[in-house]
Order: sequence, then C-alpha cells, then structure tokens
Amino acid sequence: MKLPNLNEARKRTNKETEYIYLNQNYDKKAFVGEKYFLKTYGCQMNVHDGEEIASRLESLGFTPTDTLEQADIIILNTCAIRENAHDKLYGFLGRCKHAKKNNKNLIIGICGCMAQEESVVKELIAKHPYVDIVFGTHNIHELQDLILNRKNKQNIEVYSCEGNVYENISYKRDSNIKAWVNIQYGCDKFCTYCIVPYTRGKQRSRKSSEIIKEVEQLVKNGYQEVTLLGQNVNAYGKDLKDEMSFAQLLEAVAKTNIARVRFVTSHPWDFTDEMIETIAKYDNIMPYIHLPLQSGSSRILKLMGRRYTKEEYLNLYAKIKKAMPNCAITTDIIVGFPNETDEDFKETLDVVNKCQYDSAFTFIFSPREGTPAAKMEDETDMTTKEERLQELNKLINSYSLAANKKYIDKIVPVLIEGISEKDKNKVFGYTDTMKLVNITNGQDKIGQIVNVKITDAKSFSLDGIIEE
Ligand code: 5AD
Ligand code: SF4
Repeated sequence: MKLPNLNEARKRTNKETEYIYLNQNYDKKAFVGEKYFLKTYGCQMNVHDGEEIASRLESLGFTPTDTLEQADIIILNTCAIRENAHDKLYGFLGRCKHAKKNNKNLIIGICGCMAQEESVVKELIAKHPYVDIVFGTHNIHELQDLILNRKNKQNIEVYSCEGNVYENISYKRDSNIKAWVNIQYGCDKFCTYCIVPYTRGKQRSRKSSEIIKEVEQLVKNGYQEVTLLGQNVNAYGKDLKDEMSFAQLLEAVAKTNIARVRFVTSHPWDFTDEMIETIAKYDNIMPYIHLPLQSGSSRILKLMGRRYTKEEYLNLYAKIKKAMPNCAITTDIIVGFPNETDEDFKETLDVVNKCQYDSAFTFIFSPREGTPAAKMEDETDMTTKEERLQELNKLINSYSLAANKKYIDKIVPVLIEGISEKDKNKVFGYTDTMKLVNITNGQDKIGQIVNVKITDAKSFSLDGIIEE
C-alpha cells in the first residue's frame, strides 16, 4: 500500500518519464454475468479516464448497469477541484454502504483525483473499511489486478507525483462520432489555488507519433471529431527533447483529415502566434478557444501565479479575434480569491465587458488543502462572494445570449450527435464554435455534418432546422 502525500507531490523529481507500452491481451473473464456501475465526476480528463476504466472492467467480463442496486462492482471516479467534491463522495459512499448490506460480494472502488489526496485516503481507511479498492490517476492500468488481488482488505495503490505515459490503452468510448485524445498528462503550472499539479503529477507529453497514430485510427473507424486533451495543451512537448510544438501537433492532426479538431484547455501564458496562425489556417481546426481568465485583476492574477496581466490577456484576446473574427472564446473565472476587493472584482467585470465571452464557467474560490492559496488570509465574507458570483453570471449570460442571437437566420454546419434527451423527436449537435443546437428534424443524419438554419437562440443553446 502506498499513500499519496501532497507535500511530496509539490517536489518535482528529475526522474525521466517512462513510456510504457501495455499489453492489451488481458483476458481474465473472472466476472462474466456480473455488472458494473461507474460514476464519473469532473473534467474531460476524468471523463476520458472513465472510458479507460469501463474498458478494463469489460475485459474482466463485467457489463454496464445504470442502476446502483444491480451492480456487482461500483467505481466512483472522483474530482478534487473544489471542496463540494467531498460532499459528493461521502454522500455517494453512504449509498454504496447501503447497497453492500444487500449484496455482501459487492466490490466498491474509489479512484480519480480525490484518491490522490492524502487526507481522503486516510479517511477512507479509517472510516470506510467497506471500500475495497482505491486507485489513483496514475494507477488506472492496474485496475484489473487490483480487483483480482483484493483479499478481504482494502487494496490501495496510489502514487503522488511520479507518472509515466502508458500507450496501447483501450477505451470504451462513449461516442462513435467524437473522441477524446490525451496529448499530455499532469500540469507544471502550479497556479496557487489549484490541486491538479498534485493530483495528476508533473507534465508528461505523449509522443506526437503515438497521438497521430491514434487519430488516424479514429478516422479509419469513422470518427468525425477529436478533442486533444491536456491540462495545458499549449505547453505540449515542452517536457520532451525534439518534440513538436502544440501548433505543429495541431497541424499534423488537421492533416489526418479528421473532419473536426478541438483542444482543451489552453493557458494564455503558453499561447503563441504560431498557434493562432495554425488555427486560422485549417478549416478542420474549429474556431473555438477556451481561454481561462480566472481574474481580471492583475494583482489577483499575480497572487494566483497565472503569469500574465490583465493587459497581456486582453492583447492575446485581440490578436485571436483579429486573426479569426468569428472565433468563439469561452473562459473560466474564479471570484472571491483570498482578499479580492471590490476594485479587483470590477477589473474582472471590465474584462468580461471587453471580451463579451460566448460563455463562461464561474466559480467561488474553494480552498484546496496543500495549495498555497488555501493558506492565504481571507477577510471577504461568503455573502459578498456569492453576490459577486451572481452579478458576474448575470453579465456573462447577457453576453452569451447576445452572442447566440447573432446566429438567428444563419445557416451553419452542425455535427449531429444524437437524439435529444429532453425531446425524443429532436436531435442535437454542435456548431464549429461549440454552440449546442437542438434540431427538429434529422434523425437520419446522426454522425453527419449538415447545414442547419438557426431559428431561435437562448443563453445556453440554439434551435434550428436542417436545410434540405
Ligand atoms: N476554487 C475554485 N475554482 C477552481 N478552479 C480550479 N481550482 C479552483 C479552486 N480551488 C477552477 C478554475 C479552473 C477550473 C477548471 O476550475 O477556474 O480553470
Ligand atoms: Fe490548475 Fe493552473 Fe494547471 Fe490549470 S494551469 S490545471 S488551473 S495549475
């Protein structure tokens, strides 16, 4: 058993990343006829990890179920980015404990970013002994062995900061139209509020040759869209000798002729002119950039360790819009960072007014154990923070609506992804700028990119009809 240690995770060793080619012929069908329930919280990285976990469970013979009570194994893939994640974990564990009373053989597993937190793992050991296995973000490849080797005690396998790159991973992809492709793991930015560099370890880029091979295979399998995934995609390759830049990688991926290429998440500090040129040059690189601002106040940005000022961010924004006027830009913003003043908050509103984002994810600062910001003194009360969040959301929603209204009566290409969950008579898809469109016809067009006439716009979606 190896426990995670946040202090240890802060130290980056000089150990070179190992590239390990997994043997995929895992054929131990020990659980045929048994069912798995997998619940994933958090970011796209976690969602994609969930696709690997599902594949590993199925290699053991498990089949999926959406009903917790029917499960023979429950895996909870956790997120640690904000504190409310803890409530979700412990709430969920209550349900698992109850399910285990009715099914003594039920296996309960906890993984994901919270499994990389020392205090969480200690609490699982001390207070939740009915949890059978715990594995971290670096140990997913060990899942089958962890399940097979547990012996009436918790089987815990978590590493803190080291991480390798595993190739030949099998995924049970959620979609056969669009796919996530990891290009990089971990993060070395250490923004002062963020737990990710601790839970996911140092930045490790995959080799470009492997990434291209994966995308080429996806094209062969009929996929229309790939999203290149990393905590900080524009720093791609900086941890390797003689590797491509992110712009070059984007270009190489675009040249595979996949219909659509997307990427998340970009850090403004690493965003180069070369990237802007490449995105503008290729029709199959989507004109959509998620560009986290976090705060509009240069003073707070400095405390956050973001490495750019308000002015530098606005300059980058202007450069992108100059090269691609129709590029959609979305963002992440944190309000209530320790000792954020009204003046600081006004600076954030000012940037929102200048950038008029297509949409934004907004958060109240949540102190994360082990991060520098969690130790900063903070005198701002929660009511003020909540009021700021509300004011910010109101402003952002007004810009989202205005941006969406510009689409009314336009004809835009949409990749149709499936039947709408809310209305079975409709299908849904996304524009190249990542706007969700609900469409009244087109059940026979799933998986295709078709021209859609936009008929109405709301803050979070568009309505449309396929142009025959
Ligand atoms: N508190 C609040 N929001 C956070 N984020 C990351 N860490 C924290 C935190 N401690 C937000 C950032 C990031 C997004 C994924 O989550 O805005 O971009
Ligand atoms: Fe966290 Fe900053 Fe890394 Fe993003 S860039 S994952 S916010 S440390």
